[in-house]
Amino acid sequence: MANIKYYVGDAIPLEMHKVRIIQKLTLLPIEERLKAIREAGFNTFLLKNRDVFLDMLTDSGVNAMSDRQQAAMLIADDSYAGSETFYRLEEKLKEIFQTKYFLPTHQGRAAENIINRCLIKKPGDTALMNYHFTTSKAHVTVNGGLVEELIIDAGIKEESDLPFKGNMDIDKLNEAIARLGAENISYVRIEVGTNLVGGQPVSIANMREVCAICKKHGIISLMDASLLADNLYFNKVREAEFKDKSILEITQTMAGLFDLIYFSARKLGYGRGGGIITNDKRLNDLMKELVPLYEGFMTYGGMSVREMEALTIGLDETMDEDMINQGPLFIAFMAEELLKRGVPIITPPGGLGCHLNAMKFLEHVPQTEYRAGALAGAVYLTSGVRGMERGTVSEDRNPDGSDHLANLELLRLALPRRVFTMSQVKYAVDRIAWLYDHRHLIGGLKFIEEPKVLRFFLGRLDATSDWPQKLVAQFRADFGDSL
Ligand code: F0G
Repeated sequence: MANIKYYVGDAIPLEMHKVRIIQKLTLLPIEERLKAIREAGFNTFLLKNRDVFLDMLTDSGVNAMSDRQQAAMLIADDSYAGSETFYRLEEKLKEIFQTKYFLPTHQGRAAENIINRCLIKKPGDTALMNYHFTTSKAHVTVNGGLVEELIIDAGIKEESDLPFKGNMDIDKLNEAIARLGAENISYVRIEVGTNLVGGQPVSIANMREVCAICKKHGIISLMDASLLADNLYFNKVREAEFKDKSILEITQTMAGLFDLIYFSARKLGYGRGGGIITNDKRLNDLMKELVPLYEGFMTYGGMSVREMEALTIGLDETMDEDMINQGPLFIAFMAEELLKRGVPIITPPGGLGCHLNAMKFLEHVPQTEYRAGALAGAVYLTSGVRGMERGTVSEDRNPDGSDHLANLELLRLALPRRVFTMSQVKYAVDRIAWLYDHRHLIGGLKFIEEPKVLRFFLGRLDATSDWPQKLVAQFRADFGDSL
């Protein structure tokens, strides 16, 4: 990694790239932001991007591409079957992960669809995971399976200084296998790193232990590599054994442990798409037939050839530490600035984004009034920054109709890779610090339209009182005619 020391001032992350294509942004006045968030049912997924200043909803499909990626898109080989583009991507995956087989899918959840249709053999079979992701759990349950989460206890503690909070608890894994019986376990899935608990990484030491136990019991080990890029950076800087190893060596060490790997290429590889890779012919043959049924022919799987070319280069660039460190370094910077101002966040900072701890930020709001959802609305209102609720709204209800209260109430402020500048991050920090000082003005939310499955995507909510107007009035009092 480029080692840069500063003569004066604090050490700040320095981008090892320059920006050559830009997109103009607009910041609406707060009164118009109030109108927009109302129309969106206080659901940031339903905001129009034209009403958003800094889009920190997700890093999915919105990472900045490099000049090499853009150039590669021009040489894509447009053919339904046997595209040269596909073979280039397949070769790159083989080179990086050293896996023989590749099944292309249109995105990560499409890979989850295929995997779960094939691996959940009977109702009640269980998928063990360090932690669930929304779609990875939904695909287990629609196929009649159950999910058990075995993350270490510290993983769901908001504040910690543990370097690998995404690790699976080995005692819990052994206990679950003894209790359920290996034959009733569909697979053990390690999300590398974990999305919903704050982008927290998993150590290779932990993966080794988990995969060895799987092997002993004949259980399939599955890696969700969607957030791999950030995790690789943390393996390098936080896991002593890998300090002097290249990112490629770290990737290959990790990949060699698992039976099956899948990924969302909207995150991994700075593109849009997905795939399943393995060295196990039996597993590959089992899943292969579902690709033409759900995705498209075997040599594109629902991806455009242009995206596949971009992905091939993006995967190559993921092996460059100066490329993959930008996200984690900016996230750490944002986290430190927020901590200095007393704002409660998830620590240590992980990958994907900076995660505000809404459980603490809005202690005065009942959890049944959706603390993280209310904070998402308030942050948008105050700053035009769009984050994503990752708390109780993102959980579907219990069978008895009661809310399934999330372990954590987070507002995720994703930092898509190479997209935002330092001053934009500082602006977001400034507005969030103001909001924290006026947090007592923020109230709760209630559902007015609620889908049964994955309700967070399309559900609509409303404020439980006139708190949004009060927040607008306070903003005007403090900021005058500022946007
Ligand atoms: N696994 C993980 C860990 C993810 O973060 C995602 C997507 C998926 C699987 C599904 O992939 O979107 O390509 O179908 N995460 C996005 C996010 C949606 O915003 O965090 P997908």
